[in-house]
Amino acid sequence: MQTQRTKFESTEEFARKTSERDSLGHFRERFYVPKQASGEDVLYFTGNSLGLQPKTARAFVEQELKDWETLGVEGHFRAKNAWMSYHELLTEQMANIIGARAVETVVMNSLSVNLHLLMVSFYRPTLERHKIVIEAGAFPSDQYAVQSQIKFHGFDVKDSLVELQPRENETILRTEDIERTIAENGDSIALILLGGVNYYTGQAFDMRRVTEIGHASGAVVGFDLAHAAGNIKLDLHDWNADFAAWCSYKYLNSGPGGIGGVFVHERHAENFDLPRFAGWWGHDKATRFLMDDKFVPMRGAEGWQLSNQPIFLLASLRASLDIFETAGMDNLIEKSRNLTAYLEFLLSEIKDERISVITPADPYQRGCQLSIRVQNSDKNLFKAISEKGVVADWREPDVIRVAPVPLYNSFTDVYQFAEILKDCLA
Ligand SMILES: Cc1ncc(COP(=O)(O)O)c(C=O)c1O
Repeated sequence: MQTQRTKFESTEEFARKTSERDSLGHFRERFYVPKQASGEDVLYFTGNSLGLQPKTARAFVEQELKDWETLGVEGHFRAKNAWMSYHELLTEQMANIIGARAVETVVMNSLSVNLHLLMVSFYRPTLERHKIVIEAGAFPSDQYAVQSQIKFHGFDVKDSLVELQPRENETILRTEDIERTIAENGDSIALILLGGVNYYTGQAFDMRRVTEIGHASGAVVGFDLAHAAGNIKLDLHDWNADFAAWCSYKYLNSGPGGIGGVFVHERHAENFDLPRFAGWWGHDKATRFLMDDKFVPMRGAEGWQLSNQPIFLLASLRASLDIFETAGMDNLIEKSRNLTAYLEFLLSEIKDERISVITPADPYQRGCQLSIRVQNSDKNLFKAISEKGVVADWREPDVIRVAPVPLYNSFTDVYQFAEILKDCLA
């Protein structure tokens, strides 16, 4: 897939014409875009934090409210979409987004909860092999989760946590350095847990390679895909990752606190000896209601479920997954690469030393987000663009994150953002 970088122009007309030619441009109409006081749409670039509301989300949720209203408990079986098996309606679409098979995929809980549940099964430290490898500067919740898992097993974080650091004066991690750290710690690594895309730098890791070298060293390999799911091309099954977890309120537009997703590779589908925390929804669905006291896990990712599913959360996510299916993940990624390359081009045209992009320039090492480092941590720049209708975010100490999302952002949005940034710098 080629980006059109060489053909980009820094003009309003170019942005408008490119937006008009964009075959995915009409998908914006399917979302509510918040308004400025003037009545104009804001320039929304925080789909990496909370995706916009699909206009169909309300009808999906209302259907379930209606069935609850008219059927009460009978809705478990007689609702238009019976609640008993409602989560199964999302499996195939979600599996397609992450490059997995249905048996490997389930939606449930929230991200940090799922990371813990998966570590119960996949972080099994021994005296020899007890380390967890994460990227330095991983999202805080991931850091707390791995630290608490290490302590839970009676190990010391300073001995058992290995953080992958970029080289001095560099901000992104080189794959060869990941390889070196894994080689250096070899036999003592129990688990490698990386973010698919780092929330701060926007760097996408080479998950296939990390899985390969992790497995070669005897470690289990899992990914936190919070910033990757619905953003970059994922092939979890083929990459052979052991497990992954993600949230759906960012690129997958499920709404605040939306339901999370879990991947467990098929080769673990029938490994019922893996220790796991159990609950009745992970029990064999054919015999669940016999209410027996012996836990018989379901095959595959579904066997990690604990509780009966939150139907309203599932309903709002379905609205968005339908849109993803119609748009097609490959089409979205193609547009995303162009849109982000256009943003990168416009930023380079500003030619101002006070800003620099720390996200990798290689489109295969990033998703849609660019992280703009602001010299001297000057937050006034962020405040100034916010006052002009830009919704981006500031991450301490010195970064503005900007995520043009291919489902609802246009080339014109990106152009307007760059113009505002240029004005504010001037
Ligand atoms: C990379 C990453 N990990 C974990 C979390 C925490 O997610 P949750 O609050 O859904 O558990 C987030 C939330 O933004 C995140 O971006």
